[in-house]
Amino acid sequence: MVSCYFCLVKDAELKFNRPMLVGREREYVDEALQSTWMSGDGHFSRRVQDWMSEELGLQALPTTSCTDALEMTALLADVGADDEVVVPSFTFVSTALAFAMRGCRLVFADSDPGFPHIGWAQIEPCLTARTKVVVVVDYAGSGHDLDRIEQECAKRGLVFIEDAAQGIGARHGQENRRLGSFGDAATFSFHETKNLHCGEGGALILNRDEWKARASVLWEKGTNRKAFFQGLVDKYGWVDLGSSFLPNEMTMAFLLGQLQHMDGVNGKRLTLWNTYDAAFSQMQTTGRIQRQAHPPNGDHNGHMYYVLLPSLEDRSRVISALKKEGIHPAFHYQSLHRSRFIEERQPGTKPPCPESDRFSDTLLRLPLHLGMEASDCDRVAEAVDRAL
Ligand SMILES: Cc1ncc(COP(=O)(O)O)c(C=O)c1O
Repeated sequence: MVSCYFCLVKDAELKFNRPMLVGREREYVDEALQSTWMSGDGHFSRRVQDWMSEELGLQALPTTSCTDALEMTALLADVGADDEVVVPSFTFVSTALAFAMRGCRLVFADSDPGFPHIGWAQIEPCLTARTKVVVVVDYAGSGHDLDRIEQECAKRGLVFIEDAAQGIGARHGQENRRLGSFGDAATFSFHETKNLHCGEGGALILNRDEWKARASVLWEKGTNRKAFFQGLVDKYGWVDLGSSFLPNEMTMAFLLGQLQHMDGVNGKRLTLWNTYDAAFSQMQTTGRIQRQAHPPNGDHNGHMYYVLLPSLEDRSRVISALKKEGIHPAFHYQSLHRSRFIEERQPGTKPPCPESDRFSDTLLRLPLHLGMEASDCDRVAEAVDRAL
């Protein structure tokens, strides 16, 4: 009886995220558990790499997280204390952390006024003679201005990194390219909050030929172990920097089970996204909220649904009201240029990033996961309406 009551209470709760199994994860993990190779770069790791190249046309090295994949990009870009790196202020710490760890100076680009992404218009004023790398984020699973940024970076000899943590399966630009295929390298996250997941995981996508051999060394703790197993060298040893960036076979087995259902997962998320958007369209006309806007020239993968509220106070009030009804929304990134770390590390250089600050203070992400139905989106929209 007690457990029955608990179930009823639990069902009424609408969590922000609920990681789900969507395919053959259990079967594949079981296979990995029975194999004699459980460490990295095994059978399932290669199947994940093959899936990436067949389905996305991208050459990938799976990693233990997107954070790790970003650290690999900083190593590949060979940056140091003399270099500046342009990053969005409105992003997760990991986008900038990778470059902070190499001692670079971070220059924060403000968001576009229309959406949280940065475009060339925001990047260009941040460039100096010391700029070596530009990093962008495909926020909410959509890209912005990526063709232009790629061309401008190539023209100036700048390294261009696409943090596609949330972007799996979406497309952008004149040639309708997959997110993750722009720039010199890109990164994906397979953290449990992403469309496709393996608990914790990521991938590095390599678009620059001369980085490929080095990337496999960085991946394997700075050794040429991969070349050894491929029969290209007769012994292996320490040849470069690196870390243990490669994930184990159980993680890769789980991820393969998810990847095989990318279209179905993204399709269901898009259905929920569209339900939210229809429910909020009426409220937008009364000026109480602003609906999520995606940049032009691409689609999105339904990664998140958010609304912008009039103020930080309104957002705090709506969050408390929704929580009382068992609905768990979430705010998102806090401008990195305002972080304690940057104030201490780069004192006195806080640039104004008013748009990033506005998104930090007013953006409210609503529950969106595969355990939801369209009626749940309507319930959330009604609760927001009541709370405002
Ligand atoms: C834009 C962005 N980059 C990187 C990361 C880090 O991903 P991971 O948790 O896989 O390291 C996140 C996490 O959500 C993110 O939002």
